[in-house]
Amino acid sequence: MDSFVRNFIIASIIYLGAASLLGVGMLWDDSLLSLKFVHSHLMLLGWVSMMIYGVGYHVLPRFSGRPLRYPKMGEVQFWAANTGLLGMLLFYALGIYNPSEAFRALTAAFGGLEVFSIVLFLYNMLATLLPKAGN
Ligand code: HEM
Repeated sequence: MDSFVRNFIIASIIYLGAASLLGVGMLWDDSLLSLKFVHSHLMLLGWVSMMIYGVGYHVLPRFSGRPLRYPKMGEVQFWAANTGLLGMLLFYALGIYNPSEAFRALTAAFGGLEVFSIVLFLYNMLATLLPKAGN
Protein backbone atom coordinates (compact mmCIF):
# COMPACT_ATOMS: atom_id res chain seq x y z
CA MET A 1 0.00 0.00 0.00
CA ASP A 2 1.37 3.45 -0.94
CA SER A 3 2.21 5.62 2.06
CA PHE A 4 -0.22 8.40 1.02
CA VAL A 5 -3.01 5.79 0.81
CA ARG A 6 -2.27 4.63 4.36
CA ASN A 7 -2.08 8.29 5.46
CA PHE A 8 -5.51 9.03 3.99
CA ILE A 9 -7.01 6.12 5.93
CA ILE A 10 -5.29 7.03 9.22
CA ALA A 11 -6.34 10.70 8.83
CA SER A 12 -9.91 9.60 8.10
CA ILE A 13 -10.09 7.60 11.34
CA ILE A 14 -8.67 10.52 13.34
CA TYR A 15 -11.30 12.85 11.82
CA LEU A 16 -14.03 10.37 12.78
CA GLY A 17 -12.85 10.44 16.41
CA ALA A 18 -12.57 14.25 16.52
CA ALA A 19 -15.94 14.83 14.80
CA SER A 20 -17.68 12.32 17.08
CA LEU A 21 -16.30 14.02 20.19
CA LEU A 22 -17.49 17.39 18.88
CA GLY A 23 -20.90 15.82 18.06
CA VAL A 24 -21.28 14.59 21.64
CA GLY A 25 -20.07 18.00 22.84
CA MET A 26 -22.83 19.68 20.79
CA LEU A 27 -25.42 17.41 22.42
CA TRP A 28 -24.03 18.21 25.86
CA ASP A 29 -23.64 21.98 25.48
CA ASP A 30 -25.91 24.02 23.19
CA SER A 31 -23.33 26.78 22.82
CA LEU A 32 -21.17 24.37 20.79
CA LEU A 33 -23.94 24.10 18.17
CA SER A 34 -22.35 27.13 16.50
CA LEU A 35 -19.62 24.66 15.47
CA LYS A 36 -22.07 22.49 13.50
CA PHE A 37 -20.24 23.40 10.27
CA VAL A 38 -16.99 22.11 11.79
CA HIS A 39 -18.61 18.83 12.91
CA SER A 40 -20.37 18.17 9.61
CA HIS A 41 -17.26 18.91 7.51
CA LEU A 42 -14.94 16.88 9.76
CA MET A 43 -17.39 14.03 9.18
CA LEU A 44 -17.99 14.46 5.46
CA LEU A 45 -14.70 15.88 4.09
CA GLY A 46 -12.61 14.25 6.86
CA TRP A 47 -14.01 10.84 7.74
CA VAL A 48 -16.07 9.99 4.66
CA SER A 49 -14.09 11.62 1.83
CA MET A 50 -10.60 10.69 3.10
CA MET A 51 -11.66 7.07 3.58
CA ILE A 52 -13.02 7.06 0.02
CA TYR A 53 -9.81 8.66 -1.35
CA GLY A 54 -7.63 6.08 0.43
CA VAL A 55 -9.69 3.04 -0.53
CA GLY A 56 -10.32 4.47 -4.02
CA TYR A 57 -6.61 5.04 -4.78
CA HIS A 58 -5.84 1.49 -3.67
CA VAL A 59 -8.74 -0.39 -5.21
CA LEU A 60 -9.93 1.42 -8.35
CA PRO A 61 -6.68 1.11 -10.35
CA ARG A 62 -6.61 -2.61 -9.49
CA PHE A 63 -10.23 -3.03 -10.63
CA SER A 64 -9.36 -1.37 -13.95
CA GLY A 65 -6.13 -3.37 -14.40
CA ARG A 66 -4.01 -0.18 -14.75
CA PRO A 67 -1.59 1.40 -12.25
CA LEU A 68 -2.48 4.77 -10.74
CA ARG A 69 -1.47 7.27 -13.45
CA TYR A 70 0.13 9.92 -11.18
CA PRO A 71 1.12 8.58 -7.72
CA LYS A 72 2.97 11.83 -6.83
CA MET A 73 -0.26 13.73 -7.49
CA GLY A 74 -1.99 11.47 -4.93
CA GLU A 75 0.59 12.52 -2.36
CA VAL A 76 0.11 16.21 -3.18
CA GLN A 77 -3.64 15.66 -2.87
CA PHE A 78 -3.19 14.22 0.62
CA TRP A 79 -1.45 17.40 1.81
CA ALA A 80 -3.80 19.75 -0.05
CA ALA A 81 -6.93 17.99 1.26
CA ASN A 82 -5.75 17.99 4.88
CA THR A 83 -4.32 21.52 4.88
CA GLY A 84 -7.44 22.80 3.11
CA LEU A 85 -9.83 21.12 5.54
CA LEU A 86 -8.00 22.02 8.74
CA GLY A 87 -7.36 25.62 7.62
CA MET A 88 -10.95 26.12 6.52
CA LEU A 89 -12.35 24.78 9.82
CA LEU A 90 -9.81 26.61 12.02
CA PHE A 91 -10.51 30.02 10.45
CA TYR A 92 -14.26 29.37 10.32
CA ALA A 93 -14.24 28.62 14.07
CA LEU A 94 -12.05 31.66 14.86
CA GLY A 95 -14.44 33.78 12.78
CA ILE A 96 -17.41 32.67 14.87
CA TYR A 97 -15.86 33.90 18.09
CA ASN A 98 -14.16 36.94 16.54
CA PRO A 99 -15.90 37.91 13.28
CA SER A 100 -13.58 39.63 10.82
CA GLU A 101 -13.05 39.98 7.08
CA ALA A 102 -9.60 38.41 7.44
CA PHE A 103 -10.99 35.17 8.92
CA ARG A 104 -13.68 35.06 6.24
CA ALA A 105 -11.09 35.44 3.49
CA LEU A 106 -8.82 32.79 5.04
CA THR A 107 -11.75 30.38 5.42
CA ALA A 108 -12.57 30.86 1.73
CA ALA A 109 -8.91 30.54 0.66
CA PHE A 110 -8.45 27.21 2.49
CA GLY A 111 -11.83 26.09 1.14
CA GLY A 112 -10.42 26.81 -2.32
CA LEU A 113 -7.41 24.63 -1.51
CA GLU A 114 -9.82 21.85 -0.54
CA VAL A 115 -11.60 22.18 -3.89
CA PHE A 116 -8.20 22.06 -5.64
CA SER A 117 -7.48 18.76 -3.85
CA ILE A 118 -10.80 17.39 -5.11
CA VAL A 119 -9.88 18.37 -8.68
CA LEU A 120 -6.55 16.50 -8.30
CA PHE A 121 -8.44 13.35 -7.24
CA LEU A 122 -10.91 13.64 -10.13
CA TYR A 123 -8.12 14.19 -12.67
CA ASN A 124 -5.91 11.36 -11.40
CA MET A 125 -8.80 8.89 -11.21
CA LEU A 126 -10.18 9.74 -14.64
CA ALA A 127 -6.67 9.59 -16.17
CA THR A 128 -6.28 6.12 -14.60
CA LEU A 129 -9.72 4.69 -15.32
CA LEU A 130 -10.55 6.05 -18.77
CA PRO A 131 -8.85 3.89 -21.37
CA LYS A 132 -6.76 5.65 -24.01
CA ALA A 133 -7.47 4.71 -27.65
CA GLY A 134 -5.75 1.37 -28.33
CA ASN A 135 -5.71 0.25 -24.64
C1 HEM B 1 -20.74 10.27 16.93
C2 HEM B 1 -21.86 10.36 16.29
C3 HEM B 1 -22.50 11.71 15.99
C4 HEM B 1 -22.98 12.63 16.87
C5 HEM B 1 -23.01 12.56 18.39
C6 HEM B 1 -23.50 13.74 16.07
C7 HEM B 1 -24.07 14.88 16.58
C8 HEM B 1 -24.60 15.90 15.83
C9 HEM B 1 -25.29 17.05 16.35
C10 HEM B 1 -25.61 17.31 17.84
C11 HEM B 1 -25.63 17.85 15.32
C12 HEM B 1 -26.36 19.18 15.39
C13 HEM B 1 -27.83 18.90 15.26
C14 HEM B 1 -28.64 20.18 15.44
O1 HEM B 1 -28.62 21.03 14.53
O2 HEM B 1 -29.24 20.34 16.50
C15 HEM B 1 -25.13 17.21 14.11
C16 HEM B 1 -25.26 17.72 12.83
C17 HEM B 1 -24.74 17.13 11.69
N1 HEM B 1 -24.06 15.95 11.62
FE1 HEM B 1 -23.61 14.75 13.17
N2 HEM B 1 -23.29 13.45 14.75
C18 HEM B 1 -22.68 12.24 14.64
C19 HEM B 1 -22.31 11.59 13.47
C20 HEM B 1 -22.37 12.12 12.21
C21 HEM B 1 -21.95 11.46 10.98
C22 HEM B 1 -21.40 10.02 10.93
C23 HEM B 1 -22.16 12.32 9.96
C24 HEM B 1 -21.89 12.16 8.50
C25 HEM B 1 -20.97 11.34 8.02
C26 HEM B 1 -22.72 13.53 10.52
C27 HEM B 1 -23.06 14.64 9.79
C28 HEM B 1 -23.74 15.71 10.30
C29 HEM B 1 -24.23 16.82 9.49
C30 HEM B 1 -24.10 16.97 7.96
C31 HEM B 1 -24.84 17.71 10.36
C32 HEM B 1 -25.47 19.05 10.02
C33 HEM B 1 -26.97 18.83 9.85
C34 HEM B 1 -27.69 20.17 9.64
O3 HEM B 1 -27.05 21.18 9.35
O4 HEM B 1 -28.89 20.22 9.81
N3 HEM B 1 -22.81 13.37 11.88
N4 HEM B 1 -24.51 16.03 14.44
